[in-house]
Amino acid sequence: MTDQAEQAQQTWDAVDAYFSEQLIGRDPVLEAAAAAADEAGLPHIAVAPNQGKLLHLLALTQGARRILEVGTLGGYSAIWLARALPADGTLITLELDPKHAAVARANLDRAGLGRVAEVRTGRAADSLAALVADGVEPFDLVFIDADKPSNPAYFARALELTRPGSLIVVDNVVRGGAIADAASTDPAITATRRLHELIAAEPRVSATSVQTVGAKGYDGFTLARVRA
Ligand code: SAH
Ligand code: DHB
Ligand code: MG
Repeated sequence: MTDQAEQAQQTWDAVDAYFSEQLIGRDPVLEAAAAAADEAGLPHIAVAPNQGKLLHLLALTQGARRILEVGTLGGYSAIWLARALPADGTLITLELDPKHAAVARANLDRAGLGRVAEVRTGRAADSLAALVADGVEPFDLVFIDADKPSNPAYFARALELTRPGSLIVVDNVVRGGAIADAASTDPAITATRRLHELIAAEPRVSATSVQTVGAKGYDGFTLARVRA
């Protein structure tokens, strides 16, 4: 990083720390989940606390009873999402790596969410196809946060698994600004650009994408509401 970029990142870190301190505070369950993921050697790519709380608030706003997550890691975002569910609610979260899934299950159990949250191991594309084939009840919120080259495929599946009024959230759609580079050959970028083309041509959703800065650098997310 250049000096300037480093300085900007320091400011973003300080602001995120300030917001988290004021609006989230100590949360031993989430801190334990993050520590367990760390100890297991999982990558540091979970959502930041204030982003996790945004997901939580979106789920509450949706009155969500059923939530689907693509990309579990250690279950950090899953805890935030599942905490918005009623006691008889359901979160299904999809994870390829059995080690990540095991850490997530332990974290969700420790958070008292083992009864509402289910971690399904395997390629998300296969797990999503199985959910469609099973004709499961629609999800009220879908959070897509796994392998970025699959974003278009996951979004298409999310549309099959939702209802009018459902919300689809896609993480990491900006990637330091690379999303605006039409010449990019990075599969994460080309796929996320394709995702935007897909959404633009999709009459079934109304969507926006927002840039963010913070502890996780310069990135952003897409919100797509399935039209009534
Ligand atoms: N949502 C998490 C972070 C997820 S990181 C949080 O914020 O706490 C992305 C996760 O997607 C990783 O755990 C990775 O193993 C998983 N993943 C990558 N490719 C996948 C695939 N094809 N199917 C399912 N999960 C996948
Ligand atoms: C990466 C993945 C994420 O979900 C994220 O929030 C940040 C980074 C990654 O694969 O680099
Ligand atoms: Mg992410």
